[in-house]
Amino acid sequence: MRLYKMSESGQQELVEEPIPAPGTGQVLVRVHASSLNARDLFMLDGRYPVPPGRVPLSDAAGVIEAVGPEVTRFADGDRVVNSFHATWYGGPQRKPGPAYHTDIDGWLTEYRLIDQQGLVAIPEHLDFTEAATLPCAAVTAWSAVQGAGPGDTVLVQGSGGVSLFALQLARAAGARVIATTSSEKKVARLRELGASDVINYVDTPDWSAEVRKLTDGRGADVIVEVGGAGTIAQSVAAVAYRGTISLVGHLAYDTTGMNLLDFSYSGATLRAIGGGSRSDLEDMNRVIAAHKIRPVIDRVFPFEEALDAASYLGNGAHFGKVVITH
Ligand SMILES: NC(=O)c1ccc[n+]([C@@H]2O[C@H](COP(=O)([O-])OP(=O)(O)OC[C@H]3O[C@@H](n4cnc5c(N)ncnc54)[C@H](OP(=O)(O)O)[C@@H]3O)[C@@H](O)[C@H]2O)c1
Repeated sequence: MRLYKMSESGQQELVEEPIPAPGTGQVLVRVHASSLNARDLFMLDGRYPVPPGRVPLSDAAGVIEAVGPEVTRFADGDRVVNSFHATWYGGPQRKPGPAYHTDIDGWLTEYRLIDQQGLVAIPEHLDFTEAATLPCAAVTAWSAVQGAGPGDTVLVQGSGGVSLFALQLARAAGARVIATTSSEKKVARLRELGASDVINYVDTPDWSAEVRKLTDGRGADVIVEVGGAGTIAQSVAAVAYRGTISLVGHLAYDTTGMNLLDFSYSGATLRAIGGGSRSDLEDMNRVIAAHKIRPVIDRVFPFEEALDAASYLGNGAHFGKVVITH
């Protein structure tokens, strides 16, 4: 089988290894697709330390090709997707577990052995490229929009992987969605996905005032904060009284953050999001299946061009997910 590994000199190398056989409780997955997330870029180019020999990427979908003794969750031929957190199955997570790509081998490989507990079934209407986008971005969005429903307004920042899933999941929950973007070209596509209003955050740096205008002064009940320190002050100004800011990302960490007094007056909750559990993935998949939600895929690259896929994602022109087929 072919797989990518971090070399001693900090480069990704495509290598060949024998296909392993599953042990007790393990399954062998023939990986059909993987997807890239913002976090992978830091690890692929060495900005975040990854030990030599580590296989990259956290998200993949494929087919069970062999099962080991005592496997009860799956059988040969089942279509599966991995949970982002390999050992967080449900309930409150008391401490961070091992993460793919950094602490344990990831999914940029043609085959992978995994404990049966780390996988869930793929919603029937999704193909492998679509399913491979679910573990990180979609589950994070799912966690970020929890609590939003009919009568609520959700604000999503930009058109990255997490934000588009948040838009789709919030719409499925019956909430109104306001989106921001830096690109006029993406406005129509955000509206097609169900955003009632789109604000250009470059032309309108004080976008919180626009959110207030669009909500009759109330503000957004849930804000999916992907900018971090560079956007949080606007989010505090845009959040509804006693609303929620779900802190997901740090794409704009070049400024000083927020004024704590302003935050106190907002009465809002700042909720740090860290993906979600296997049970969150299963709950989300039920909603994705019921609403026939299709992940937005910007571009698919072949396995041999995985590093080009990462450069493409890094350029930031994408709308939705960048996927690799294996
Ligand atoms: N906490 C967690 O569990 C978790 C999980 C997944 C991701 N994350 C983090 O969340 C962030 C987003 O991840 P992603 O995978 O969705 O990234 P992504 O797909 O690379 O998102 C890039 C998009 O974000 C938008 N953006 C960039 N700067 C912005 C700003 N200042 N204001 C508003 N939008 C901005 C841009 O949209 P436009 O082109 O439309 O302007 C850009 O195209 C990253 O920081 C990532 O590390 C955290």
